[in-house]
Amino acid sequence: MGALYDRLMKAYDSIRGITDFTPDIALVLGSGLGDFADTLENRQYISYEDIDGFPRSTVSGHAGKFVLGNIGCAKLVVMQGRVHFYEGYSMEQVVMPVRLMGLMGAKTLLLTNAAGGVNTAFKPGDLMLIKDHISSFVPSCLIGPNEEALGTRFPDMTHVYDTYLSDIVRQTAEDLKIDIKEGVYLQTTGPNYETGAEIKMYRLLGADAVGMSTACEAMAANHMGMKVAGISCITNMAAGIYDKPLNHAEVKEVAEKISGSFTSLIKNSIINIKGDVC
Ligand code: HPA
Repeated sequence: MGALYDRLMKAYDSIRGITDFTPDIALVLGSGLGDFADTLENRQYISYEDIDGFPRSTVSGHAGKFVLGNIGCAKLVVMQGRVHFYEGYSMEQVVMPVRLMGLMGAKTLLLTNAAGGVNTAFKPGDLMLIKDHISSFVPSCLIGPNEEALGTRFPDMTHVYDTYLSDIVRQTAEDLKIDIKEGVYLQTTGPNYETGAEIKMYRLLGADAVGMSTACEAMAANHMGMKVAGISCITNMAAGIYDKPLNHAEVKEVAEKISGSFTSLIKNSIINIKGDVC
């Protein structure tokens, strides 16, 4: 085993020193969406500070802890606050939490984020099921010696977002009468928002939404064999679509405004994914 595995195992041992909880499903909550974790039953918190070698989230709107608990029969580990490349961490550090949740036992990963709408048919407040992503504008999280214990050197990325899980999320939205769009998410490094010209280019390339996270996490999870689904909260139209500057306060505000339908979609999707076998 290489140095990456050693680092992961140190962090994993810190968690196992606190709890032997084995999750079924891992969930990452994006900007302004963190409140959902506080609705889990039998909650237990692990602060990122207590995990050896764990990167710290420094962005306002991103608390820094794992929340463990149940939703119905599902055992969940939730990241309340994620780590971003623009904070200065390496991609390896950025995806460490996802890998840890996989090592804890989660076979399924649900990713959420706040994103800018690139598709002009979208509007702020829409939810978008991620059907694929473009990560070509950020370094791959798999650069460096490959850790065979996690996954293969050259992993296939044809189906990063699992069709079965995505079908469940789509059906759950329909049952709840939540209108859910679908599209391609493009990850940038951030931290700046894009220019109007960049957004035009991204649209030409096939992107429907843009944000500063998620694709790398989906890739790391796919590398280690986890099944992934992703939902973007379209908090704003991307640069150049409306003639007004973008700001993080607006992103958080819109995310918080739609957190009701978002929470209900996530919660019910989890129940439907797990089924009622406890
Ligand atoms: N661009 C990039 N990231 C974002 C945006 C955006 O417009 N909105 C929320 N996250």
